[in-house]
Amino acid sequence: MSETKSTIQTESNPDRPVSTTTGETEEEVRSEWREYAFDGEPKLSVENLDVYYGDDHALRDVSIDIPEESVTALIGPSGCGKSTFLRCLNRMNDRIKSARVDGSVEVDGEEIYQDGTNLVELRKRVGMVFQNPNPFPKSIRDNVSYGPRKHGDIDTGVLAGLLGRSNEEREAELVERSLKQAALWDEVDDRLDDNAMGLSGGQQQRLCIARCLAVDPEVILMDEPASALDPIATAKIEDLIDELAQEYTVVIVTHNMQQAARISDQTAVFLTGGNLVEYGETDQVFENPESQRVEDYITGKFG
Ligand SMILES: Nc1ncnc2c1ncn2[C@@H]1O[C@H](COP(=O)(O)OP(=O)(O)OP(=O)(O)O)[C@@H](O)[C@H]1O
Ligand SMILES: [Mg+2]
Repeated sequence: MSETKSTIQTESNPDRPVSTTTGETEEEVRSEWREYAFDGEPKLSVENLDVYYGDDHALRDVSIDIPEESVTALIGPSGCGKSTFLRCLNRMNDRIKSARVDGSVEVDGEEIYQDGTNLVELRKRVGMVFQNPNPFPKSIRDNVSYGPRKHGDIDTGVLAGLLGRSNEEREAELVERSLKQAALWDEVDDRLDDNAMGLSGGQQQRLCIARCLAVDPEVILMDEPASALDPIATAKIEDLIDELAQEYTVVIVTHNMQQAARISDQTAVFLTGGNLVEYGETDQVFENPESQRVEDYITGKFG
Protein backbone atom coordinates (compact mmCIF):
# COMPACT_ATOMS: atom_id res chain seq x y z
CA MET A 1 0.00 0.00 0.00
CA SER A 2 1.41 3.42 -0.83
CA GLU A 3 1.22 5.36 2.39
CA THR A 4 2.98 8.54 1.40
CA LYS A 5 1.00 9.51 -1.67
CA SER A 6 -0.57 12.58 -0.14
CA THR A 7 2.31 13.59 2.11
CA ILE A 8 3.85 17.02 1.77
CA GLN A 9 6.77 17.76 4.03
CA THR A 10 8.94 20.80 4.36
CA GLU A 11 12.64 20.41 3.58
CA SER A 12 13.80 22.20 6.70
CA ASN A 13 11.59 20.32 9.14
CA PRO A 14 10.06 17.18 7.74
CA ASP A 15 7.84 16.67 10.79
CA ARG A 16 6.27 20.09 10.77
CA PRO A 17 2.71 19.91 9.44
CA VAL A 18 1.92 22.15 6.50
CA SER A 19 -1.44 23.87 6.11
CA THR A 20 -3.41 23.61 2.88
CA THR A 21 -5.80 26.15 1.41
CA THR A 22 -8.78 24.29 2.89
CA GLY A 23 -7.29 24.73 6.35
CA GLU A 24 -6.48 21.05 6.51
CA THR A 25 -3.02 20.08 7.71
CA GLU A 26 -0.95 17.63 5.70
CA GLU A 27 0.33 14.63 7.57
CA GLU A 28 1.52 11.19 6.74
CA VAL A 29 -1.37 8.75 6.55
CA ARG A 30 -0.59 5.63 8.55
CA SER A 31 -2.12 2.25 7.90
CA GLU A 32 -2.34 1.43 11.63
CA TRP A 33 -4.90 4.21 12.02
CA ARG A 34 -7.23 2.13 9.92
CA GLU A 35 -6.69 -1.14 11.69
CA TYR A 36 -9.88 -2.20 13.38
CA ALA A 37 -10.28 -5.67 14.82
CA PHE A 38 -13.73 -7.18 15.28
CA ASP A 39 -15.16 -10.63 15.88
CA GLY A 40 -16.46 -12.70 13.00
CA GLU A 41 -16.05 -12.52 9.24
CA PRO A 42 -16.54 -9.17 7.52
CA LYS A 43 -19.87 -8.70 5.73
CA LEU A 44 -18.19 -6.31 3.31
CA SER A 45 -14.52 -6.45 2.48
CA VAL A 46 -13.03 -3.70 0.34
CA GLU A 47 -9.46 -3.89 -0.89
CA ASN A 48 -7.31 -1.37 -2.74
CA LEU A 49 -10.29 0.46 -4.15
CA ASP A 50 -9.59 3.35 -6.53
CA VAL A 51 -12.29 5.32 -8.31
CA TYR A 52 -11.74 7.78 -11.16
CA TYR A 53 -14.19 10.11 -12.89
CA GLY A 54 -12.39 10.71 -16.16
CA ASP A 55 -8.97 11.96 -14.98
CA ASP A 56 -10.19 12.87 -11.50
CA HIS A 57 -9.03 10.46 -8.84
CA ALA A 58 -11.95 10.42 -6.38
CA LEU A 59 -10.99 7.51 -4.09
CA ARG A 60 -7.44 6.37 -3.39
CA ASP A 61 -6.47 2.91 -2.39
CA VAL A 62 -9.25 2.38 0.13
CA SER A 63 -9.21 -0.87 2.10
CA ILE A 64 -11.75 -1.55 4.82
CA ASP A 65 -13.60 -4.49 6.37
CA ILE A 66 -17.13 -3.89 7.64
CA PRO A 67 -18.69 -6.21 10.25
CA GLU A 68 -22.23 -7.51 9.91
CA GLU A 69 -25.23 -6.48 12.00
CA SER A 70 -23.78 -3.13 12.96
CA VAL A 71 -23.80 0.52 11.92
CA THR A 72 -20.76 1.93 10.15
CA ALA A 73 -20.65 5.71 9.77
CA LEU A 74 -18.73 7.37 6.93
CA ILE A 75 -17.77 10.96 7.66
CA GLY A 76 -15.55 13.58 6.07
CA PRO A 77 -15.67 16.97 4.32
CA SER A 78 -17.70 17.56 1.18
CA GLY A 79 -16.15 16.07 -1.94
CA CYS A 80 -13.91 13.57 -0.13
CA GLY A 81 -15.60 10.59 -1.80
CA LYS A 82 -18.14 9.27 0.73
CA SER A 83 -20.99 8.89 -1.76
CA THR A 84 -18.59 7.49 -4.33
CA PHE A 85 -17.45 4.87 -1.82
CA LEU A 86 -21.01 3.97 -0.85
CA ARG A 87 -21.99 3.53 -4.49
CA CYS A 88 -19.10 1.11 -5.01
CA LEU A 89 -20.67 -1.27 -2.52
CA ASN A 90 -23.56 -2.17 -4.82
CA ARG A 91 -22.00 -1.12 -8.10
CA MET A 92 -24.18 1.97 -8.52
CA ASN A 93 -21.12 3.72 -10.01
CA ASP A 94 -21.61 1.45 -13.03
CA ARG A 95 -24.41 3.82 -13.96
CA ILE A 96 -22.03 6.79 -14.19
CA LYS A 97 -20.40 6.79 -17.59
CA SER A 98 -17.15 8.51 -16.65
CA ALA A 99 -16.60 6.40 -13.53
CA ARG A 100 -13.90 3.72 -13.44
CA VAL A 101 -13.48 1.44 -10.45
CA ASP A 102 -10.31 -0.55 -9.67
CA GLY A 103 -9.94 -2.93 -6.76
CA SER A 104 -12.02 -5.47 -4.95
CA VAL A 105 -15.31 -5.46 -3.05
CA GLU A 106 -16.55 -8.69 -1.51
CA VAL A 107 -19.95 -9.33 0.01
CA ASP A 108 -19.75 -12.41 2.24
CA GLY A 109 -16.45 -13.27 0.60
CA GLU A 110 -17.87 -13.09 -2.92
CA GLU A 111 -16.32 -10.61 -5.36
CA ILE A 112 -18.93 -8.25 -6.80
CA TYR A 113 -16.59 -6.74 -9.41
CA GLN A 114 -16.42 -9.78 -11.63
CA ASP A 115 -18.04 -10.67 -14.90
CA GLY A 116 -21.31 -12.41 -14.41
CA THR A 117 -22.38 -10.58 -11.24
CA ASN A 118 -26.15 -10.26 -11.38
CA LEU A 119 -26.61 -6.55 -10.63
CA VAL A 120 -30.34 -6.81 -9.90
CA GLU A 121 -29.64 -9.54 -7.37
CA LEU A 122 -26.70 -7.58 -5.92
CA ARG A 123 -28.77 -4.43 -5.42
CA LYS A 124 -31.46 -6.50 -3.80
CA ARG A 125 -28.91 -7.84 -1.30
CA VAL A 126 -27.24 -4.46 -0.90
CA GLY A 127 -30.05 -1.90 -0.92
CA MET A 128 -29.75 1.87 -0.89
CA VAL A 129 -31.62 4.80 0.65
CA PHE A 130 -30.82 8.26 -0.72
CA GLN A 131 -30.54 11.74 0.75
CA ASN A 132 -33.82 12.99 -0.65
CA PRO A 133 -36.76 10.67 -0.20
CA ASN A 134 -37.76 9.44 -3.65
CA PRO A 135 -41.02 7.48 -3.41
CA PHE A 136 -42.76 6.51 -6.63
CA PRO A 137 -45.90 8.55 -7.45
CA LYS A 138 -48.01 5.52 -6.57
CA SER A 139 -49.93 4.33 -3.54
CA ILE A 140 -48.13 3.65 -0.27
CA ARG A 141 -48.91 -0.05 -0.72
CA ASP A 142 -47.53 -0.16 -4.26
CA ASN A 143 -44.34 1.59 -3.20
CA VAL A 144 -43.60 -1.26 -0.81
CA SER A 145 -44.73 -4.14 -3.01
CA TYR A 146 -43.11 -2.82 -6.20
CA GLY A 147 -39.69 -4.36 -5.51
CA PRO A 148 -40.89 -7.84 -4.53
CA ARG A 149 -43.22 -7.84 -7.56
CA LYS A 150 -40.33 -6.88 -9.81
CA HIS A 151 -38.26 -9.67 -8.33
CA GLY A 152 -41.17 -12.07 -8.64
CA ASP A 153 -41.23 -12.90 -4.94
CA ILE A 154 -44.95 -12.41 -4.56
CA ASP A 155 -46.26 -13.79 -7.83
CA THR A 156 -44.11 -16.91 -7.83
CA GLY A 157 -44.39 -17.67 -4.15
CA VAL A 158 -44.53 -21.45 -4.41
CA LEU A 159 -44.43 -21.87 -0.67
CA ALA A 160 -47.34 -19.45 -0.27
CA GLY A 161 -49.33 -21.52 -2.74
CA LEU A 162 -48.56 -24.68 -0.81
CA LEU A 163 -49.66 -23.05 2.39
CA GLY A 164 -52.89 -22.09 0.70
CA ARG A 165 -52.34 -18.35 0.91
CA SER A 166 -53.16 -16.12 -2.02
CA ASN A 167 -50.79 -13.60 -3.51
CA GLU A 168 -52.96 -10.84 -2.16
CA GLU A 169 -52.63 -12.12 1.38
CA ARG A 170 -48.90 -12.48 0.92
CA GLU A 171 -48.65 -8.96 -0.40
CA ALA A 172 -50.67 -7.56 2.49
CA GLU A 173 -48.43 -9.35 4.97
CA LEU A 174 -45.28 -8.13 3.30
CA VAL A 175 -46.50 -4.53 3.15
CA GLU A 176 -47.48 -4.61 6.81
CA ARG A 177 -44.23 -6.25 7.92
CA SER A 178 -42.04 -3.81 5.96
CA LEU A 179 -43.95 -0.73 7.13
CA LYS A 180 -43.77 -1.95 10.72
CA GLN A 181 -40.04 -2.54 10.41
CA ALA A 182 -39.68 0.99 9.07
CA ALA A 183 -41.72 2.35 12.03
CA LEU A 184 -44.33 3.81 9.67
CA TRP A 185 -47.23 1.35 9.92
CA ASP A 186 -49.13 3.12 12.71
CA GLU A 187 -49.13 6.36 10.74
CA VAL A 188 -50.39 4.94 7.44
CA ASP A 189 -52.29 1.70 8.10
CA ASP A 190 -55.64 3.38 7.36
CA ARG A 191 -54.54 4.95 4.08
CA LEU A 192 -52.40 2.41 2.23
CA ASP A 193 -54.08 3.29 -1.05
CA ASP A 194 -53.28 6.99 -0.79
CA ASN A 195 -50.57 8.42 -2.99
CA ALA A 196 -47.17 8.34 -1.29
CA MET A 197 -46.42 11.86 -2.46
CA GLY A 198 -48.92 13.09 0.13
CA LEU A 199 -46.74 11.91 3.03
CA SER A 200 -44.44 14.24 4.97
CA GLY A 201 -40.74 14.23 4.14
CA GLY A 202 -39.88 12.11 7.18
CA GLN A 203 -42.68 9.66 6.37
CA GLN A 204 -41.54 9.46 2.75
CA GLN A 205 -38.03 8.62 3.90
CA ARG A 206 -39.33 5.84 6.16
CA LEU A 207 -41.42 4.60 3.24
CA CYS A 208 -38.24 4.44 1.15
CA ILE A 209 -36.64 2.42 3.94
CA ALA A 210 -39.69 0.11 3.96
CA ARG A 211 -39.37 -0.26 0.19
CA CYS A 212 -35.73 -1.21 0.63
CA LEU A 213 -36.57 -3.72 3.39
CA ALA A 214 -39.38 -5.34 1.39
CA VAL A 215 -36.93 -7.13 -0.90
CA ASP A 216 -35.17 -8.65 2.08
CA PRO A 217 -31.72 -7.04 1.84
CA GLU A 218 -28.67 -7.96 3.89
CA VAL A 219 -26.89 -4.62 3.69
CA ILE A 220 -28.53 -1.18 3.72
CA LEU A 221 -26.55 1.78 2.37
CA MET A 222 -27.79 5.20 3.43
CA ASP A 223 -26.46 8.43 1.98
CA GLU A 224 -27.30 11.24 4.42
CA PRO A 225 -30.81 9.82 4.94
CA ALA A 226 -31.84 12.43 7.50
CA SER A 227 -30.20 15.59 6.19
CA ALA A 228 -33.43 16.89 4.65
CA LEU A 229 -35.51 16.17 7.76
CA ASP A 230 -36.47 18.11 10.89
CA PRO A 231 -35.13 17.04 14.32
CA ILE A 232 -38.18 14.91 15.19
CA ALA A 233 -38.17 13.03 11.90
CA THR A 234 -34.39 12.67 12.22
CA ALA A 235 -34.74 11.14 15.68
CA LYS A 236 -37.20 8.59 14.26
CA ILE A 237 -34.78 7.63 11.50
CA GLU A 238 -31.96 7.31 14.04
CA ASP A 239 -34.04 5.04 16.28
CA LEU A 240 -34.94 3.00 13.25
CA ILE A 241 -31.30 2.61 12.19
CA ASP A 242 -30.50 1.37 15.67
CA GLU A 243 -33.24 -1.28 15.35
CA LEU A 244 -32.20 -2.28 11.84
CA ALA A 245 -28.61 -2.93 12.92
CA GLN A 246 -29.79 -5.92 14.93
CA GLU A 247 -30.60 -7.71 11.73
CA TYR A 248 -28.87 -5.85 8.90
CA THR A 249 -25.50 -4.35 8.09
CA VAL A 250 -26.02 -0.60 7.87
CA VAL A 251 -23.50 1.75 6.25
CA ILE A 252 -24.43 5.40 6.57
CA VAL A 253 -22.93 8.64 5.29
CA THR A 254 -23.62 11.60 7.52
CA HIS A 255 -22.40 15.18 7.88
CA ASN A 256 -23.78 15.31 11.38
CA MET A 257 -21.00 14.36 13.80
CA GLN A 258 -23.34 13.97 16.75
CA GLN A 259 -25.46 11.66 14.68
CA ALA A 260 -22.45 9.55 13.71
CA ALA A 261 -21.32 9.41 17.34
CA ARG A 262 -24.83 8.49 18.53
CA ILE A 263 -25.80 5.79 16.10
CA SER A 264 -22.68 4.06 14.81
CA ASP A 265 -20.56 1.23 16.13
CA GLN A 266 -17.57 2.07 13.97
CA THR A 267 -16.60 5.18 12.06
CA ALA A 268 -14.52 5.66 8.92
CA VAL A 269 -13.13 9.12 8.25
CA PHE A 270 -12.35 10.15 4.68
CA LEU A 271 -10.40 13.33 4.06
CA THR A 272 -9.59 15.49 1.08
CA GLY A 273 -8.21 13.62 -1.88
CA GLY A 274 -10.31 10.50 -1.39
CA ASN A 275 -8.18 8.94 1.34
CA LEU A 276 -9.60 6.81 4.12
CA VAL A 277 -7.51 8.25 6.96
CA GLU A 278 -8.90 6.63 10.07
CA TYR A 279 -11.24 3.76 10.87
CA GLY A 280 -12.08 2.34 14.24
CA GLU A 281 -14.57 2.00 17.03
CA THR A 282 -16.73 5.14 17.05
CA ASP A 283 -15.93 6.17 20.64
CA GLN A 284 -12.22 5.91 19.97
CA VAL A 285 -12.38 7.85 16.70
CA PHE A 286 -14.38 10.68 18.27
CA GLU A 287 -12.74 10.83 21.69
CA ASN A 288 -9.19 9.93 20.89
CA PRO A 289 -8.45 10.04 17.16
CA GLU A 290 -5.00 8.98 16.08
CA SER A 291 -4.75 11.40 13.17
CA GLN A 292 -4.28 15.11 13.89
CA ARG A 293 -6.24 15.94 10.72
CA VAL A 294 -9.15 13.80 11.89
CA GLU A 295 -9.09 15.55 15.25
CA ASP A 296 -9.07 18.93 13.50
CA TYR A 297 -11.98 17.85 11.33
CA ILE A 298 -14.03 16.47 14.21
CA THR A 299 -13.46 19.55 16.35
CA GLY A 300 -14.55 21.74 13.46
CA LYS A 301 -11.21 23.32 12.57
CA PHE A 302 -11.84 22.68 8.87
CA GLY A 303 -14.31 21.03 6.50
N1 LIG B 1 -20.94 11.69 -11.38
C1 LIG B 1 -19.76 12.30 -11.20
N2 LIG B 1 -19.04 12.72 -12.26
C2 LIG B 1 -17.86 13.34 -12.09
N3 LIG B 1 -17.29 13.57 -10.88
C3 LIG B 1 -17.95 13.18 -9.80
C4 LIG B 1 -19.22 12.51 -9.90
N4 LIG B 1 -19.65 12.22 -8.66
C5 LIG B 1 -18.69 12.69 -7.83
N5 LIG B 1 -17.67 13.25 -8.51
C6 LIG B 1 -16.45 13.87 -7.91
O1 LIG B 1 -15.81 12.93 -7.08
C7 LIG B 1 -15.39 13.52 -5.86
C8 LIG B 1 -16.07 12.83 -4.68
O2 LIG B 1 -17.46 13.10 -4.76
P1 LIG B 1 -18.53 12.46 -3.76
O3 LIG B 1 -19.86 12.85 -4.24
O4 LIG B 1 -18.24 11.03 -3.61
O5 LIG B 1 -18.14 13.23 -2.41
P2 LIG B 1 -18.91 13.26 -1.01
O6 LIG B 1 -17.88 12.99 0.03
O7 LIG B 1 -20.09 12.38 -1.05
O8 LIG B 1 -19.34 14.79 -0.90
P3 LIG B 1 -20.66 15.44 -0.20
O9 LIG B 1 -20.38 15.38 1.27
O10 LIG B 1 -20.67 16.83 -0.71
O11 LIG B 1 -21.86 14.64 -0.62
C9 LIG B 1 -15.72 15.01 -5.97
O12 LIG B 1 -14.57 15.68 -6.41
C10 LIG B 1 -16.82 15.04 -7.02
O13 LIG B 1 -16.80 16.24 -7.72
MG1 LIG C 1 -22.16 12.70 -0.92
